[in-house]
Amino acid sequence: MVLLQEKSQAPSRITLQTLEIAPDITTIRSLDWDRDRFDIEFELQNGTTYNSFIIRGDKLALIDTSHQKFRDLYMDALRGQIDLSTLDYLIVSHTEPDHSGLVADVLKLAPQVTVIGAKVAIQFLENMVHIPFKFQIVKQGDRLDLGQGHELEFISAPNLHWPDTIFTYDAKTQTLFTCDAFGMHYCDDHVFDEVPYILEADFKTYYDCLMGPNARSVLAAIKRMEPLTIETIATGHGPLLKYHRETWVNCYREWSAAQASTEPIVSVFYSEDYGYSYHLAQQISLGIAKTGVEVELIDVSELDRQDVRDLVNTAAGIVIGMPSQEDAIAQTNLSTILAAAHGKQAIGFFESGGDHDEPLYPLRNKFREVGVSELFPPILLKEPPTVALDQVCEEAGTDLGQWLTRDRTVKHMKSLDTDLDRALGRLSGGLYIITSRKGEIASAMLASWVTQASLSPLGVAIAVAKDRAIEALLHCGDRFVLNVLEEDNYQPLMRHFLKRFPPGGDRFAGVKTYDASNGSPILADALAYMECEVTSRMDCDDHWAIYSSVQAGRVAKAQGVTAVHHRKVGNHY
Ligand SMILES: Cc1cc2nc3c(=O)[nH]c(=O)nc-3n(C[C@H](O)[C@H](O)[C@H](O)COP(=O)(O)O)c2cc1C
Repeated sequence: MVLLQEKSQAPSRITLQTLEIAPDITTIRSLDWDRDRFDIEFELQNGTTYNSFIIRGDKLALIDTSHQKFRDLYMDALRGQIDLSTLDYLIVSHTEPDHSGLVADVLKLAPQVTVIGAKVAIQFLENMVHIPFKFQIVKQGDRLDLGQGHELEFISAPNLHWPDTIFTYDAKTQTLFTCDAFGMHYCDDHVFDEVPYILEADFKTYYDCLMGPNARSVLAAIKRMEPLTIETIATGHGPLLKYHRETWVNCYREWSAAQASTEPIVSVFYSEDYGYSYHLAQQISLGIAKTGVEVELIDVSELDRQDVRDLVNTAAGIVIGMPSQEDAIAQTNLSTILAAAHGKQAIGFFESGGDHDEPLYPLRNKFREVGVSELFPPILLKEPPTVALDQVCEEAGTDLGQWLTRDRTVKHMKSLDTDLDRALGRLSGGLYIITSRKGEIASAMLASWVTQASLSPLGVAIAVAKDRAIEALLHCGDRFVLNVLEEDNYQPLMRHFLKRFPPGGDRFAGVKTYDASNGSPILADALAYMECEVTSRMDCDDHWAIYSSVQAGRVAKAQGVTAVHHRKVGNHY
């Protein structure tokens, strides 16, 4: 191994390493020795690295950059390797800042460059770099010829671990660039995986935290890798996998297969370039994901029949965005989905809003004949999506996810030890209705897990389940009203707000309200109300603990008493 360049910058221990890993391919590895956290919740034992690659054909390509903290070191090294004015392509494997943090810096010095990425990656980048740039969107199987035998092929690998991930395969050197996938947070001078036992624990932790939640997407990506002859897996974090490559891939395969067989997944079929299909699919997926159910977004115009059949066979739920009637591949795939669907699956449909949507109702009738359970009314697009329609989509997705997890939820509720359950049940609270309005959308929820949490400034804390509709209106900076229910008068309001509302349904129909100064509804029959603003949210697994400052409030009846909720058991509200 030849170290072409190594610099250090005490005391923060960030160093840089540059090495030719195959003919015409150089890696620039940013070594972050002391990084101890990733994505907040992920504790690192051995630091991490951010790996970037240069490929020299007749054309010059750079795959990924580095973290912003390496700005000077990395840009110096890059300039030492190539004349940036001759860089032809910048391939963005995905847009997470630890790999794309210096994209803007490269673009400033190489404005001629064409950025290559998945459609979503390009959209994310436009919002990140705020300067115009040339781009080329690539899909599964697309190729880019750099010359000198370096014909690159792109493999779509969504959700590993960002939605916009692509792999790049260089046939000449049999190198597969996978960015986050197959990586590990492990920092040392060894560029390759010569000694696997040192790496195993970090490789597994990384898989569990970043890849395991999307086990089926991992399996799909591995399937797409199968036709390729691979010599080196050039990952974006940690050592490159060369000596024990097959073992590492088999680990991913086994772990993902085990994980995928136990957890439900929903396949959301959309058409990438048609109407508002992708936007609506994303909103529905967001709602499904709130229930902890895995989602796979699939471009119905892209896959072959066998892949579609596999996806439908393993899915617990299916969502279909109507493709164009003129899209022959999508039409064939719709027939395949219909043929593979079975009566235990949940389903939902939405219109894509192009000009030639496949008619929704005849297709829906055919699926009904199969016996699938339709979990939300068809979402019909009459005009470009609004925030209100986004809310309908999100709530529709949540309804579908909740249906799929209903058995798990009941099992959880029964799983508590009886003594502990009864002891917890002695915790009691008041009864409150939280109401919120943000622009054209509004929501409300009955809550009893509410407590004052600070005196100065005045603050309250509320535990809100992650799959509640109102959760979307309780992010930091959002405002709401905490309505206190009265002991002798809480039943009608409690019954009303516990009703099951359809996605986007008006939760205030028939309820007397007036507006608070923060814009949210005050319930006219509440005993008291407080105007609040969310200042922080703490992740408590199945709930968010939402801490909010309190700005104003009033009591309607001076003698009134707050309704109290006494429970018998602790595994429910
Ligand atoms: C007595 C009682 C107290 C509740 N307290 C809370 C609570 O503090 N936090 C919460 O997330 N849900 C709580 N819930 C559940 C929600 O009120 C209820 O499931 C919700 O209105 C359904 O709305 P959704 O459409 O958003 O799922 C409580 C339910 C009851 C019956």
